[in-house]
Amino acid sequence: MIYRLIRPILFCLDAERAHNLAISTAGFIGNRPRLTRFVRRLGRTVDRPKEVAGLHFPNVVGLAGGMDKNAAAPAAWWSFGFGFVELGTVTPQPQPGNDKPRMFREPKNDAIINRMGFNNDGAFVVRARLTTQQRLGLRPPIPLGVSVGKNKNTPVEEAARDYRVAAEAVAKVADFLSINVSSPNTAGLRSLQSAGTVAHLVSEVRAVAGGKPIFVKLAPELDAQELESVLEGCVSAGAAGIIATNTLAVGQDDGRPQGGLSGRPLREIARSRVASIRRFCGDRMAIIGCGGIDDVDSAQTMLDAGADLIQLYTGLVYKGPFLPARISRDLAHSI
Ligand SMILES: Cc1cc2nc3c(=O)[nH]c(=O)nc-3n(C[C@H](O)[C@H](O)[C@H](O)COP(=O)(O)O)c2cc1C
Repeated sequence: MIYRLIRPILFCLDAERAHNLAISTAGFIGNRPRLTRFVRRLGRTVDRPKEVAGLHFPNVVGLAGGMDKNAAAPAAWWSFGFGFVELGTVTPQPQPGNDKPRMFREPKNDAIINRMGFNNDGAFVVRARLTTQQRLGLRPPIPLGVSVGKNKNTPVEEAARDYRVAAEAVAKVADFLSINVSSPNTAGLRSLQSAGTVAHLVSEVRAVAGGKPIFVKLAPELDAQELESVLEGCVSAGAAGIIATNTLAVGQDDGRPQGGLSGRPLREIARSRVASIRRFCGDRMAIIGCGGIDDVDSAQTMLDAGADLIQLYTGLVYKGPFLPARISRDLAHSI
């Protein structure tokens, strides 16, 4: 309700500026435990715990990668109702990302197009931040995952080293790790989505993960054959699960800005990928469904397709920070 009043003001700002304001506000809340608990009560989250990949999730609604790339506000996400958070994507070295503007709203479709390009503070700074939060008692009681990627300047042939270095940096402070081979905004990244390469990346990350579960995040564009082959690679190398999906590449000849499309237009394709993955993997893999979830119906549809957990990002922009709390309540009441 309140967000409906605030949103037009936020939407007067450039999309990335509004995002930065949201992150600063979340950081302000997350660094003040009494305020964090107050906000948590306001949201009236209803937890329905679930065990997935050996981890305990208070509820199934997670924050998707890319919103809090630098671990600015983990406790705030818990206060808004999230049952888990994926931080990052982080790379070994800090990097500025692509030139601005690089984030665009498409309000008629409740969608966003971004070409951020892994702007982040680097895995070592993020590790330090998470360590400090832990020491100060600011770590929320939900699983925190960290997504890892490769630096822009690292040749694709040497990508495995970047994934390993970033994973090693954050493994001790993360509850799970995710391997991002599916951003459309880092040249060559998606070419890592082949059975052999993915298996190699998973093995490299596993070697330094200290037993933490590893998820692989895939692109929505993979056709059935490509998907099955990548899944074989993930299963054989011992990944715990799949995150489906990342954004859809747009902007070649459709009049849209170039980048990755998220939000409602991604919903059906992400759902169908989750269904295919579940059909192919059975219960060999945990699945996190992600793409266009912004209410209880889209959340339930994703769970019905075979997802164990769900994530969202763009829905927050259009529906406000208490969306996860609302979905958690509505899911609990729809049982
Ligand atoms: C601005 C923006 C930045 C993103 N950055 C990342 C990222 O760094 N790593 C990642 O795995 N996914 C990233 N994503 C993709 C989201 O995690 C998610 O897969 C996608 O947006 C679909 O979910 P949604 O429709 O709920 O937004 C980003 C999405 C947006 C909108």
